[in-house]
Amino acid sequence: MVAAVCDAGGYGVLPLWHKPIEAFEADLARTQSLSDRNFAVNINVANPYKDQLQICIDHKVHAVSLFWGIEREAIDMAKSAGLNVLYSVGNAAEAQAAEQAGADVIVAQGWEAGGHVWGQVSTMALIPAVVDTVNIPVIAAGGIADGRAMAAALMLGASGVWVGTRFLASYEATIHDTYRQRILDAPEDQTEWYYELYDVSWPDAPHRALKNATSQGWHRTGAPKPGQRPNEGQIIGHRPNGDPVERYQSYTPITGTTGDVDAMSLWSGQGVAQVRQVMSAAEIVDEIYRDAETALNNGRSIL
Ligand SMILES: Cc1cc2nc3c(=O)[nH]c(=O)nc-3n(C[C@H](O)[C@H](O)[C@H](O)COP(=O)(O)O)c2cc1C
Repeated sequence: MVAAVCDAGGYGVLPLWHKPIEAFEADLARTQSLSDRNFAVNINVANPYKDQLQICIDHKVHAVSLFWGIEREAIDMAKSAGLNVLYSVGNAAEAQAAEQAGADVIVAQGWEAGGHVWGQVSTMALIPAVVDTVNIPVIAAGGIADGRAMAAALMLGASGVWVGTRFLASYEATIHDTYRQRILDAPEDQTEWYYELYDVSWPDAPHRALKNATSQGWHRTGAPKPGQRPNEGQIIGHRPNGDPVERYQSYTPITGTTGDVDAMSLWSGQGVAQVRQVMSAAEIVDEIYRDAETALNNGRSIL
């Protein structure tokens, strides 16, 4: 998907941080072999990250995209090796800290975003606040799923957009069919932000996902804290490699997952209502770009 996005004129971001180091390097090398274009490798700095960063340096990647808290040492390591640094933040003060620490680009992630969500400010309010605070390019993330939303983000001062949920409905996304169908069917109010619902394997990390039997069962019992939730520890399925998936586990159901996929963490942003058709990653990049251009050209005056 990253290679396809890059070849279509986008800038792909490759999330490898959760992989064992050998797989991290192999997938990075494979992506480099599939496209000559620049892309970034996404690294979670709340985990041990130095070996991963070193591999990015050895492979001369164009940039690293760092997230989950400002880690000055990671920025120093990447910058001193000549890599560009994209930093994901959730508010303006953090954006300023990242800029001062040497980041090249800010990724401002609004609360509408799917997956793990660092901040609590909506994209509409966050982007101008961040743009007014830093002097480096700001990329808008969260709830942006079509060209109209991209145009709006550019009007707010963003230099580009970062799109997640929309690409779940691409042919290249290796997610389970049940998960993809839920994305295609969901209206905009079918996602929910949770402080710690899917906390098994990744605690203390708020997230946004589709409502399902797991979230409904948890609400029905009064939204209890971890340790007191219904069916805690229950095995609800298995990964393709046979490892169990627990209820409340932070897990992206990929192709080959078995069991009650619908009850797993189905990450989704609020822009999901604009995701109605499976397309190639290249078609998605192209459509968003063209529709943004049209929206900007058709901008109406207020009077
Ligand atoms: C399935 C899924 C997985 C994600 N995984 C990561 C990740 O590994 N690293 C990261 O920085 N952000 C991750 N995100 C968050 C995205 O980077 C981005 O902030 C978000 O998708 C933007 O909002 P949108 O989903 O409304 O487009 C993920 C999002 C989704 C939907």
